[in-house]
Amino acid sequence: MKSASPLPSFGRDMSESSSIPRHIAIIMDGNGRWAKERGKPRISGHRAGAESVRECVEGCKQLGVEFLTLYAFSSENWNRPAAEITALMALLERFLEEKAGELMEQNVRLQAIGHLERLPVRTRRKLDKAIERTSGNTSLTLILALSYGAREEIVEAARSLAADAVAGKIDPAKIDNATFASRLYTAEIPDPDLLIRTSGELRVSNFLLWQISYAEIVIFKKFWPDFHQADLNEAVEEYSRRHRRFGGL
Ligand code: IPE
Ligand code: IPE
Ligand code: MG
Repeated sequence: MKSASPLPSFGRDMSESSSIPRHIAIIMDGNGRWAKERGKPRISGHRAGAESVRECVEGCKQLGVEFLTLYAFSSENWNRPAAEITALMALLERFLEEKAGELMEQNVRLQAIGHLERLPVRTRRKLDKAIERTSGNTSLTLILALSYGAREEIVEAARSLAADAVAGKIDPAKIDNATFASRLYTAEIPDPDLLIRTSGELRVSNFLLWQISYAEIVIFKKFWPDFHQADLNEAVEEYSRRHRRFGGL
């Protein structure tokens, strides 16, 4: 276990400050390139990335962040070679098995968003078990985005509203932002305040398109396995310097 890096102080107690994002969302990118640079197979990059996840969970807990959403597998990632998908699912299963106890100790509640029914049965079972086991925990909520695509999420929300309208259960004229948001996977979760992406790519890759409308974005050039607690703290420090206007002045 790597030792925790010191918290940024900003001259005040950060846990008491609104400069701490309530919800951080992360596009964990660059595992494959990290491995390639080392002449290793891509899966070893994914394996190394799992350690960064652990550090991030710990870092968010220490900062007093309430929600952490991690983009772990996109709808489009199903187009990758079968061997990489199988290895990723095996890694996820191991993570769920090994980390469930740790999440209990840390009082972290696990949740998942995405087309979870597309996951292999065994993976899904382990995921459900970990979610169930940690459901009463009250510190950080860790949300894994798995088989997740924002466009599908939005289409499903539209479809469910349309079905209710046809059935006469809802008046189309009364559908507003809040009604729509209540049909998304993230209905119970506040929008991300801070969006982090590693590996230097300047795109959102079908992640939380509705929810990140006003998120502050911080990009790191480094690959995900090189992302440590100090980087998380740096991103939060950068966030605290931003002036969020939400279209106002
Ligand atoms: C992110 O790393 C993890 C997943 C998408 C599952 P990548 O696998 O995308 O690694 P790069 O971006 O190809 O280096
Ligand atoms: C985004 O990374 C998905 C995850 C981090 C799970 P990708 O590597 O799949 O995205 P692109 O292909 O660079 O847009
Ligand atoms: Mg990538």
